[in-house]
Amino acid sequence: MVKAVIAGNWKMHMTCAEARSFAQSFLPLVSNLPADRTVVLAPPFTAIATLAEALAGSGLALASQNVHWEGNGAYTSEISAAMLLEHGVAYTIVGHSEPRKYYSESDEQINRRARAAQDAGLIPILCVGESDDQREAAETERVIRRQVEQGLEGLDPSRLIVAYEPIWAIGTGKTCEASEANRICGLIRAWVGFPEITIQYGGSVKAENIDQLMAQSDIDGVLVGGASLDPVGFARIAGYQLAVAA
Ligand code: PGA
Repeated sequence: MVKAVIAGNWKMHMTCAEARSFAQSFLPLVSNLPADRTVVLAPPFTAIATLAEALAGSGLALASQNVHWEGNGAYTSEISAAMLLEHGVAYTIVGHSEPRKYYSESDEQINRRARAAQDAGLIPILCVGESDDQREAAETERVIRRQVEQGLEGLDPSRLIVAYEPIWAIGTGKTCEASEANRICGLIRAWVGFPEITIQYGGSVKAENIDQLMAQSDIDGVLVGGASLDPVGFARIAGYQLAVAA
């Protein structure tokens, strides 16, 4: 069985003080989770060191929200794998729809980031997903297949997570129907050609829909934005399908 990965992407939220206070509230709520799941937090760069200290010994893992393909150099605003590894970061989000949209990240750049991450020992969480217009134009499968083929080129699928995040469902409160999310995740699994790959769903995941999403056969985890900022709500998400969850 693939181990579920429940990841919180904090985006541009949380100062160090806020991250510390989140950890204080969150850790006691997730101290007894079963071993079938891993909980990951992706804070902004400035809070990584603080959160690394707060999470030490908890079994929770850290992710970064980006990584560059070069080891160092004149790349203002970027971060290298070595800088992240120094703080115990294990995962890195690449290809999220926000940098794809705001900074015109291409599949080629995303692929370079993911390859460098794997080479350094980080596990990329590579995001794919269609826009509202693309879905309306019945282009969903074509778009995602291209993102998968170009984004995953040369990557080792056993050290990779693919996150299916329909753009129209991100931050909008509109969740993709669980059965439709499952269908696309199943297609991604087939296109990757490695049945054991971990595939997440992301886009308005919350306490109210987590159990249904995690009950799907092809959804091995979730990438959570807004709902990961609240320690009680995110603990409920991490405790999916458990009667004891908060
Ligand atoms: P959301 O964001 O949960 O706030 O919709 C998901 C994401 O962007 O990864």
